Amino acid sequence: MLLRLAQPDDAIAVARVHVRSWQSAYRALLPDDYLDQLRPEDRAAQYDFATLDPRKPRTIVAEEDGHIHGFATTSPSRDTDAADHGELCALYVDPTQWGRGIGVALVTAARTHLAHAGFRDAVLWVLDGNLRAERFYQRDGWASDGVHRTDTVWGVTVGEVRYLRPLSAP
Ligand SMILES: CC(C)(COP(=O)(O)OP(=O)(O)OC[C@H]1O[C@@H](n2cnc3c(N)ncnc32)[C@H](O)[C@@H]1OP(=O)(O)O)[C@@H](O)C(=O)NCCC(=O)NCCS
Repeated sequence: MLLRLAQPDDAIAVARVHVRSWQSAYRALLPDDYLDQLRPEDRAAQYDFATLDPRKPRTIVAEEDGHIHGFATTSPSRDTDAADHGELCALYVDPTQWGRGIGVALVTAARTHLAHAGFRDAVLWVLDGNLRAERFYQRDGWASDGVHRTDTVWGVTVGEVRYLRPLSAP
């Protein structure tokens, strides 16, 4: 499994993982009609994998035999009460590849990337009811501070709960 920074040419492969993962993980959480009309092309057009600006999101992909199986995106936190934190903005593994250790490899690489960028702590937001992801993050040392928000993500309004983690811990 190769972990590397995403390149502009990766956009459609990353977007396919993104959409498939949403359609599996969020099936019971978001309306079927919404999930079924998601198109990888629309998401791919929104990514910027060429930027070198450290204030912009950075994406790491997990690749095996030329196939992208997952990705993690980090950036500085967008929370006003955690402005000095890094953020894990996205972590998605292709549903056909779940349970193979790809998520652990990606979250570890994302934490290392944020620590090297100078952040001491990180935040992430989990969709309300995404229990698989909450269990995954708790096993990785993240803890919720109980803060909830309503956010509009890819055109849909969702409830989310916040998790935090120090980046110094292994
Ligand atoms: C959550 C998700 C990224 C996990 O990816 P994955 O590749 O299936 O995860 P892995 O195979 O690496 O890890 C799975 C196991 O390792 C555990 N684990 C997680 N972090 C760990 C760590 N640091 N050390 C040891 N084990 C760990 C997990 O709890 C899980 O245990 P289980 O097998 O008993 O369920 C994946 O299920 C996914 O893409 N879900 C849909 C999208 C999503 O919800 N993303 C989060 C958005 S906030």
